[in-house]
Amino acid sequence: MAIDARDFPLAFAWRLEMSLVLEQPLPDASLPSGMAFADLRQEQLPALARIEHLAFAGSVDARVFPELLQSPQACLRAWARTKRDFDPRTSLVLMRGAEPVGFVRAAGARGVATIDCVAVLPEFRGGVGRALMLEALRRMREHRYQVALLSVTAENTTALTLYERLGFREVGWSISIYRR
Ligand SMILES: CC(C)(COP(=O)(O)OP(=O)(O)OC[C@H]1O[C@@H](n2cnc3c(N)ncnc32)[C@H](O)[C@@H]1OP(=O)(O)O)[C@@H](O)C(=O)NCCC(=O)NCCS
Repeated sequence: MAIDARDFPLAFAWRLEMSLVLEQPLPDASLPSGMAFADLRQEQLPALARIEHLAFAGSVDARVFPELLQSPQACLRAWARTKRDFDPRTSLVLMRGAEPVGFVRAAGARGVATIDCVAVLPEFRGGVGRALMLEALRRMREHRYQVALLSVTAENTTALTLYERLGFREVGWSISIYRR
């Protein structure tokens, strides 16, 4: 009898660790009219958790990290756990008028900034992910971080392309095991 990998309850995904040395000035982030960057404020967390859930819905990351992404409440619980590390100087929200439509959450210590999450609601994508990342990286340089780090699931080709075009390079990898 042939063995089919799909019969196994566990699967794995490759995760790439990427880094960018924040040496050179970066190009300015330009946004479509009506959009602006804002500092990330504590009272926005429920709205940002909803964005995170919707941004990842149906993605490979939603399969790999269901406990973090399966609902806005799960996202909010994950935010609560990482709150102590979150750096308000380099974390930011993308606003369309008064409405948050995306965000970058970052943490950092000893000159190394770690980008935990970047997400944009599907209907607002197209150029703004790059702008959001550029603004976060600009703030990291301004606050004297020397290196930015992030992890990305290898199958997430949109995010991977974005990071590579910003100059991030692969520095390591890991695997995440998940239940199918
Ligand atoms: C990642 C994310 C923030 C990017 O936002 P965005 O507005 O789509 O980003 P941009 O359009 O600025 O950049 C995306 C880049 O990927 C490219 N791209 C878009 N769709 C692609 C696809 N299906 N395959 C490969 N590349 C793709 C674009 O061409 C663009 O590069 P370019 O501007 O140099 O041409 C957004 O897709 C998102 O929220 N995804 C869900 C959450 C997520 O995966 N976050 C990252 C977790 S590590």
